[in-house]
Amino acid sequence: MEKRIIVLDTTLRDGEQVPGAKLNLLEKMEIANQLKNLNVDIIEAGFPSSSTGDFESVMKIAKEIGKDGPMITALARAIKSDIDAVYQSVRYADSPLIHMVLGTSAVHLDKKFNKSKEEVLRMGVEAVRYAKTLLPEVQYSTEDAARSEFEYLWQTIEQVVKAGATMINVPDTVGYAVPEEFGELIRKINDRLKNLNHKVLLSVHCHNDTGLATANTLAAVKNGADKIECTINGIGERAGNAALEEVVMGMILRKDYYHATTNIITKQIKKTSQMVSGLMGIDIQVNKAITGDNAFAHSSGIHQDGLLKSADVYEVISPRDIGVEKMELILTARSGKHALNDAVRKLGFEFKSEKDSTEFHQLFLELADKKKEIYDHDLFYLLKEFFGESDSNSPSIELFQLIDFQLVSNNVFPSAVVKVKKGKEILIESATGNGSIDAIYNALEKLTKISVELLEYKTGSVSKGQQALGRSTVQLLYDKKTYSGRALDTDVAKASAIAFLNGINKIVLEHGN
Ligand code: KIV
Ligand code: ZN
Repeated sequence: MEKRIIVLDTTLRDGEQVPGAKLNLLEKMEIANQLKNLNVDIIEAGFPSSSTGDFESVMKIAKEIGKDGPMITALARAIKSDIDAVYQSVRYADSPLIHMVLGTSAVHLDKKFNKSKEEVLRMGVEAVRYAKTLLPEVQYSTEDAARSEFEYLWQTIEQVVKAGATMINVPDTVGYAVPEEFGELIRKINDRLKNLNHKVLLSVHCHNDTGLATANTLAAVKNGADKIECTINGIGERAGNAALEEVVMGMILRKDYYHATTNIITKQIKKTSQMVSGLMGIDIQVNKAITGDNAFAHSSGIHQDGLLKSADVYEVISPRDIGVEKMELILTARSGKHALNDAVRKLGFEFKSEKDSTEFHQLFLELADKKKEIYDHDLFYLLKEFFGESDSNSPSIELFQLIDFQLVSNNVFPSAVVKVKKGKEILIESATGNGSIDAIYNALEKLTKISVELLEYKTGSVSKGQQALGRSTVQLLYDKKTYSGRALDTDVAKASAIAFLNGINKIVLEHGN
């Protein structure tokens, strides 16, 4: 029997306090609504005593998302005015929760509060008693628990539970814990807590200062935690928090080990991750577990060969489970013949003999050595040349290929002219936009006559120096399906244009000209 783990998402509180990640009210509402679609159990919506704006956004989330939705909470220090601000903002939700935090480690007591253990404990107990006069559900966080002396930590937990706390959160505030030790801490607390009051939930909140937040959270689940606190993409203070997508998928992948499950609708993970990254303006590292661009992209020839035989040879999680259409095989000079032949077939070509296939592989390797990554249109035109225009094994379809473009970048009318080849035809189109990339995309959309919604656009450099290569990726929505395009070039505007056309070419390949 699997244990149901409660998931609290704190993207809008611990995540939003990250420098540069500030969100406006509409953006917070959009994320809160998506967290509801993801089916998190609790949303920590902010820190209402910090500003009027934060107070109002917590209140709006409680009123709108907290109706027939997840429990809504917000953070308070263990002081009356903070607790009042939380109560006044979350009380509109169907299930409101007051969350308060107070340190238990020696360094917090001595250096932050300059108070004795007894004084701090008294503050905590009084704060819980006060919160309980306002709401039945109260969570108490023993800040810096991982660095706290165990007996004082337990004494605090015991006293605040007796005062009425319904959830005890054990934070590794500074990312100090290691999995074995943290798991053992949770096991010890859980044994005592369940004896004291078995209805009180034991929660964990881990930070990622040495990259162990996911591992520590999972170790806690293994050792009796009932609830976990996470953020989307692991965004959070300093090196961030435990990433929701990693912990949840970890539990699914190793159900045999953790015997635990959540109510998260995993097919909403990718969409949530992209939304948080886009609205906060914080890129996801390409090799980030579960949600990075390369998390389901395979480029080694040995791996591509294995995957094409059976996906589970190199894939333990299916990309579809997190809402990604399919794995991506990136063709490079390291791709073997199996992956190349598969890509050739998908483009509609067929080799007449093994000799042709081997000859073409050589041509492919020459191009791949020059170009680093080979996209559909590169392969398509290489194949066209190889087969000759009139060959019956060559499909009638034509793809778009960027020939040239010109940008006018100014504050009034950013505009673009694009020149594209399609078979023997040369097409030229121009458009304006909100910025120069938007102008290029508008011109390409007009020119290709394929109307798409741009779900995501990312660009960044993948090497250093003046000749740095820029990589652009796009996600396009067409006929309710997503199509991705990527491109590399020393000119980011050119990489952006080619990435867009590569996405369009995937649509053409699937739907025809
Ligand atoms: O990291 C921390 O200790 C926190 C608490 C408020 C739970 O964010
Ligand atoms: Zn935190």
